[in-house]
Amino acid sequence: MTYRIAPSILSADFARLGQEVREVIAAGADWIHFDVMDNHYVPNLTFGPMICSALKPHAVTPSGQAVPIDVHLMVQPVDALAGAFAAAGADLISFHPDASSHVHRSVQAIKAAGCKVGLSFNPAQPLDVLDWLIEDIDLILIMSVNPGFGGQGFIDSALRKVQAARARIEASGKDIRLQVDGGIKIDNIAQVAAAGADTFVAGSAIFGRPDYKAVIGTMRERLAALG
Ligand code: DX5
Ligand code: ZN
Repeated sequence: MTYRIAPSILSADFARLGQEVREVIAAGADWIHFDVMDNHYVPNLTFGPMICSALKPHAVTPSGQAVPIDVHLMVQPVDALAGAFAAAGADLISFHPDASSHVHRSVQAIKAAGCKVGLSFNPAQPLDVLDWLIEDIDLILIMSVNPGFGGQGFIDSALRKVQAARARIEASGKDIRLQVDGGIKIDNIAQVAAAGADTFVAGSAIFGRPDYKAVIGTMRERLAALG
């Protein structure tokens, strides 16, 4: 299993975002998770496509290799902003199906814009839409907190949903990433992986500590211990 750790810059120092992105990549981040909130679909307001394009040149390893920007749209409506983020350098765009009136169309539009596409599921949202769309997507994002804020506690029912999503991915035979977002810490990452996740968003657990490399390194040790 190839695990990916995607630090959420929601918990970074916004006054020095470019440097934070470089530092967390140097510390071992695989993807940069970019949480877009609109104060409408979720009760918080973060950053838009201009910040994404400003950060794009910073999303590189110290040797200059590009690191994917993983945009998590918590906005309504979806389509116009998805297009703007594709133009701003997003590599993958996830959205919440309940925020789009035409989910299939939104998926196709993101792919047509040249990005990978993910569907994101809130804690009380069923996975049913995957009956009709799993063939078309690259990533399933299971929310293990209610979207809107960093630093919340992990909702345990997300583990059952991760298991259900993993079963759907296996039945599909497709190469689809299974990402979990919210309340991921050193102490629970292995449990979340054991349920079937392969990609882990972590905001406060990484940016809330002075030594990003130590946190990411310990997370990888916990994952490696699973075999
Ligand atoms: C919550 C965001 C998360 C958030 C996670 O709405 O989607 O990506 O940054 O933060 P932590 O890891 O602190 O729960
Ligand atoms: Zn997120």
